[in-house]
Amino acid sequence: MELVFATHNRHKLQEAVAIAGASCVVFGLDHVGCFDEIPETADTLIGNAKQKAEYVYQKYQVNCFADDTGLEVEALDGRPGVYSARYAGEHCSFQDNVNKLLQEMQGVSNRKACFKTVVALILNGQRYEFEGRVDGIILPAPLGDSGFGYDPVFMPDGFNVSFAQMSDFDKNAISHRGRAIRKMMTFLQTL
Ligand code: IMP
Repeated sequence: MELVFATHNRHKLQEAVAIAGASCVVFGLDHVGCFDEIPETADTLIGNAKQKAEYVYQKYQVNCFADDTGLEVEALDGRPGVYSARYAGEHCSFQDNVNKLLQEMQGVSNRKACFKTVVALILNGQRYEFEGRVDGIILPAPLGDSGFGYDPVFMPDGFNVSFAQMSDFDKNAISHRGRAIRKMMTFLQTL
């Protein structure tokens, strides 16, 4: 089976390829010649994931999936949530977002947070959804330089390292997106 992952993020693509293993060949958007900035204008994770998958399906008629992820911080009433990518403003960097988060969390003792991922799959014209979640805490300062996004300031429960200090293999095993994509792969194997 072949699936196009509706993302330009090479970290995410590598994660998905590693999780899929030999059972499913996962391609990036360049495989279908898509270099568009795919709109994600919904105000929910599932809305954005569906919007991105639908865009690729309508334009290229290929089996595909898209994901959307949010970091939900308990003390910030679930922010940045669906706005995780643009938390510090339009066209901001990962570093800008991390800086803003750390600033908002200064002096806050409740550090609980979770990453949530929703995956929308379109397979032979049928639509499916999968979810993954990982709980943890927001660190007071960045640790590590692997990964992307909020990885340096997120420490998953049960570990004493940040996501940015873990190998890709270890992160995939427990991450929000890893869990959601693994659920999708398990489902595909039942077909
Ligand atoms: P996306 O819309 O799924 O790309 O995710 C929105 C934002 O959440 C990204 O721009 C990152 O800042 C953040 N994010 C998503 N996945 C991860 C992750 O695995 N680690 C750290 N940050 C992430």
